[in-house]
Amino acid sequence: MDTQTITLIRGDGIGPEITEAVVEIFEAAHVPVQWEEAEAGLACAEKHGTPLPKETVEKISRNKIALKGPTTTPSGTGHKSVNVTIRKTLDLFANVRPAKSLPGVRSRYDNVDLLLVRENIEDTYAGVEHWQTPDVAQCLKVITRPGSLAVINYAFAIARAQGRKRVTCVHKANIHKITDGLFLECFREAAQHYPDLQSDDILIDNACMQLVIRPEQFDVMILPNLYGDIVSDLCAGLVGGLGVAPGGNIGDGCAVFEAVHGSAPDIAGQGIANPTAILLSAIQMLRHIGLNGHAGRIETALRYALVSGIKTRDMGGNATTREFTRAIISGIPSTIVSPNIEEKLEINPLPLPEARDSHSQGWHTVGVDLFVHENSLPHLPETVGKMTLAMISNRGTKVYPGSMPFIYLVNWYRARYLSETPLHEEDLQQFFNALPSSVEWTTIQRLNEDKEGNPMFSKAQGEE
Ligand code: NAI
Repeated sequence: MDTQTITLIRGDGIGPEITEAVVEIFEAAHVPVQWEEAEAGLACAEKHGTPLPKETVEKISRNKIALKGPTTTPSGTGHKSVNVTIRKTLDLFANVRPAKSLPGVRSRYDNVDLLLVRENIEDTYAGVEHWQTPDVAQCLKVITRPGSLAVINYAFAIARAQGRKRVTCVHKANIHKITDGLFLECFREAAQHYPDLQSDDILIDNACMQLVIRPEQFDVMILPNLYGDIVSDLCAGLVGGLGVAPGGNIGDGCAVFEAVHGSAPDIAGQGIANPTAILLSAIQMLRHIGLNGHAGRIETALRYALVSGIKTRDMGGNATTREFTRAIISGIPSTIVSPNIEEKLEINPLPLPEARDSHSQGWHTVGVDLFVHENSLPHLPETVGKMTLAMISNRGTKVYPGSMPFIYLVNWYRARYLSETPLHEEDLQQFFNALPSSVEWTTIQRLNEDKEGNPMFSKAQGEE
């Protein structure tokens, strides 16, 4: 078997200690990989002036696979998270986190074996945030059809490849009818291509409760980014916490594997860090590249070490990182695995569909939402160009026309202007030109209907 080159980023804090454990274990297990080191993180930023040098991204792109130790992100100020930058730069659209009970690891359950697939690029993590007024901040939740289908197809494909039975979509489409509604629609569309797998969906709130009560009922879960971020940590908690939670960021071309936990500066350099999570990430990586036999041997050795009671402090033991690593190495089965085990799992997500444009879908513009900065109910013209004022809302609730609701009003109002007839670009331009200069607008949002006349926008609370 050819030796595969893998990019190794040791990272900050405990990163160098725990990645070294993986390097030693792989060497002892004769895993046919060689490492190409690359730098990233806080120490790298201090040395080279950037937390993620171009060469590091190039090395990951060239080798296609990387194992990454945790990197420190300064809070509030300083550089952006290296992880987020790597995910976005390399379009690693799926975050895959197995949560599997481990023997000898204290946790509430011993029968959890689920795979959580989280969308990794979009949602509120697209980072489209604006202050609208000094009192009002807004973050756009961006859910797209291609972005959703890419990760949902991947979830079905990996479920099939791993011989799993069921894929569950977790969402809040009863409230976020348009954004989560699109994610759910994509899920249902993709499910039709995988009739051999069961598919169902559950609201995020119920999913959290069910996970805490009966986690074994879930198999593969697919979630948009923000819910996935939260629920994946919940799942890590079900099997023993961050110290044992692995993950992989997967794209079409590249994949980067890393532990879920951070650089643990509080214990860095003390030689007591737990390498389990990064080792499990490395095992996940071996399975991703088809080295299943080696993955199995190392996993067996890890389980053996845990059962025999040799554990780091965070798991209730008193072993150092080195002692724990040596215990794993001494338990690596010598059995030569049969070559056919070393088969790459064929994960073949469906190709993405063609982009749909609004013209081909028969969309037409019927109005605009005009967001204005005003201390009290704004005096706006009833008619501007071809459009008339249909309603004004504050924090999503209608405040005009009709009686004022009992809500606290902030200095940011939305005025909905609608037209009886479809609008053209020049009508929108005319609307903009006809707006009194006294109106301090912050955003103008186009409102469309589809060819059946269904609104492609949500209604305000209290709006007919
Ligand atoms: P953290 O995960 O580093 O630490 C939280 C607690 O868990 C600490 O008490 C730590 O000692 C303990 N811990 C974490 N991993 C451990 C291990 N392998 N063995 C034993 N104990 C362990 O989270 P925190 O403190 O919020 O973040 C520290 C830094 O890490 C921050 O700069 C943060 O931005 C960064 N971070 C990086 C990540 C990555 O590179 N993937 C992920 C999460 C945070």
